[in-house]
Amino acid sequence: MKFTDRLNNLGTETAFSVSQDAQEFQKSGKKVYPYHLGDLDIPTPSNIIDSTYRAMQDGKTGYNPPAGLPELRKIIAETVGTERGIDYSFHNVVIQPGGKPVISKFIQALMNPGDGVLYPNPGYPIYESQIKYFKGKAIPYNYISKDISFEIDRDRLEKSIDENTKLLIYNNYQNPIGAESDLDEMEWIANIAKKYNLIVLSDEAYFNIRYEGTSTSIASLPKMKERTVILYTFSKTFAMTGWRLGAAIGPIHLMKIFTKLAINDESCTNHFIQYGGIEALEGKKDGANKILKELKIRRNLLATHLESIPSIKVFRPNTTFYLFPDVTEIYMMLKCKTYEEFRLKILNETGVSFCTREHFGTPLPDETKKYVRFAYSGISVKEINESMIKLKKFLLPLENLVLSE
Ligand SMILES: Cc1ncc(COP(=O)(O)O)c(C=O)c1O
Repeated sequence: MKFTDRLNNLGTETAFSVSQDAQEFQKSGKKVYPYHLGDLDIPTPSNIIDSTYRAMQDGKTGYNPPAGLPELRKIIAETVGTERGIDYSFHNVVIQPGGKPVISKFIQALMNPGDGVLYPNPGYPIYESQIKYFKGKAIPYNYISKDISFEIDRDRLEKSIDENTKLLIYNNYQNPIGAESDLDEMEWIANIAKKYNLIVLSDEAYFNIRYEGTSTSIASLPKMKERTVILYTFSKTFAMTGWRLGAAIGPIHLMKIFTKLAINDESCTNHFIQYGGIEALEGKKDGANKILKELKIRRNLLATHLESIPSIKVFRPNTTFYLFPDVTEIYMMLKCKTYEEFRLKILNETGVSFCTREHFGTPLPDETKKYVRFAYSGISVKEINESMIKLKKFLLPLENLVLSE
């Protein structure tokens, strides 16, 4: 069988290979601490499950409109609009099976072969995969670590724009870093988009995973609504990763194209699942509040543990469920030559399983610091404590050795 040439350009989420290693390790009878997957071990709130079950029993099992149920589109327009201070109608919303399909549709609708697309690196790996698959020019932009946060490298971003650059992917409340723009940075990005006439995909998967402060959407800045598509998803906020429910929210003429693509790709999003979405947004919020509360406890606990290891530098983001510590010193202490060697050494010694910076795009040539990503959405408080004791037991003697040399 001969496969198409374009498949050579299709990437993947290499984090799934980390899961395989973790499973192998577990099979050998050892305990694994799963910090590698961005999934939640917290169940979907029961009112959402009940509504969905009722919808199935009520016969909501046939096809439904390709753009989604008008009722759900309306409540998303209202909720997303109110949270962000933007006026949307249901015509601005196309329901999707998850947030991820919005990325592909955005690129298919707006990028011709050869067009340039700016995207964050490190970043969610599907951006680069989709840009390359559809034969665009993938233009990474990076983040610079500051004392207690990360900032977009503005200089590099602007310098990499040329007349073929058409799109900008912006993931505020960022996976894997947990970085968030202050208003100045967000305004700068918006001004760049307007100056170079770029259309923006604002990936807001973590907009509602926020422990302190308030979230802002770039679409709410002046003259940005008309050039921005918001990626919205139920996956994280309501612990619904496996349900596959999300939406694209953007200019009406563009949403018509998204609908046409939906007709070709999936006909419609799962019918009864959408009633779960309506309940999530209209019903009681106790479930979502509980999820957030639990995640905050885990963030505080994990960050406190990591902060107590002198050779690790960690910043404590107010959003997402990731920590992205600088592990350069440990990497050197362990005399590792590659990220993979580093990851496997820690896994084998301690059972602590995480993704490295490399799982979120090819490191830039001038990048010297080493980072890993700890996702704390799929690991209990008890396991965080246990795993950190093991990690410290392994690392602290090494640190003492280096200090005494
Ligand atoms: C930044 C980012 N965008 C989009 C998604 C996709 O979310 P969904 O599960 O809704 O497809 C993820 C999932 O991990 C993500 O981290």
